[in-house]
Amino acid sequence: MAEAPGDPKSVKQDDKGKYVDGKGDPTFNVKPDGTVDWYSYSGYRRYTSECSVCHGPDGEGSTYAPALKNSLKTINYPEFYGIVVGGRQNLGGGENKVMPALGDNKNVMCYIDDIYVYLRSRSNEAVPRGRPPAHDEKPPQASEAEKACLGE
Ligand code: HEC
Repeated sequence: MAEAPGDPKSVKQDDKGKYVDGKGDPTFNVKPDGTVDWYSYSGYRRYTSECSVCHGPDGEGSTYAPALKNSLKTINYPEFYGIVVGGRQNLGGGENKVMPALGDNKNVMCYIDDIYVYLRSRSNEAVPRGRPPAHDEKPPQASEAEKACLGE
C-alpha cells in the first residue's frame, strides 16, 4: 500500500496559480467565507462532465463505481493519476466493472489536477455538495496552460 495523501493544507501557489501542499501535490484552498480556489471550481465542473456519470454527483459514488471522496482518503496523487491514465478493472468475484483508461482524453487529462483538487476538497469535507457558491478568478497562467494542453 502506498502512503495516504497526507495533510491537505496548502503551503503555497505554484507557477500556474495552483495551491500545493507540503509535499508539492495539488490541493484546495477555501476561504473562511466559502470562496474556493479556481482549480477546485474548475474540477467540480470537469468532474461533473467526465466522471459523475459513473461515480455519481459530487464524488458521492453510485451502485456502479466507488465514491471518490472516500477513495481519496487513501489514494494519493501519483496513484490517482496512474488510475485515471491507465484505467482499472476489478477482476475479482466475477464482477464486470471497468474504470476506463482516460490517458488519451484531453478533456480529462488537461484538467486532471483540477479534478484531483476538487475531489480532495470533498474528501476533507472542505466544500459542500453541489456547485461551489463562489470561486476565485481564473489565473492567467491557467488559461495559458489550458490552451497549450488542448493544442489551441
Ligand atoms: C464508464 C464509467 C467510469 C467513468 C466515466 C469513470 N470511472 Fe473511475 N471507475 C469506474 C469503476 C467501475 C471503478 C472501479 C473499478 C474497480 O472496481 O477496479 C472506477 C475506479 C476509479 C478509481 C479508483 C477508486 C478506488 O477506490 O479504488 C479512481 C481514482 C477513478 N475511478 C477516477 C475516475 C475519474 C477521476 C474519472 C473522471 C475523469 C473517472 N474515474 C471516470 C468507472 C468509471
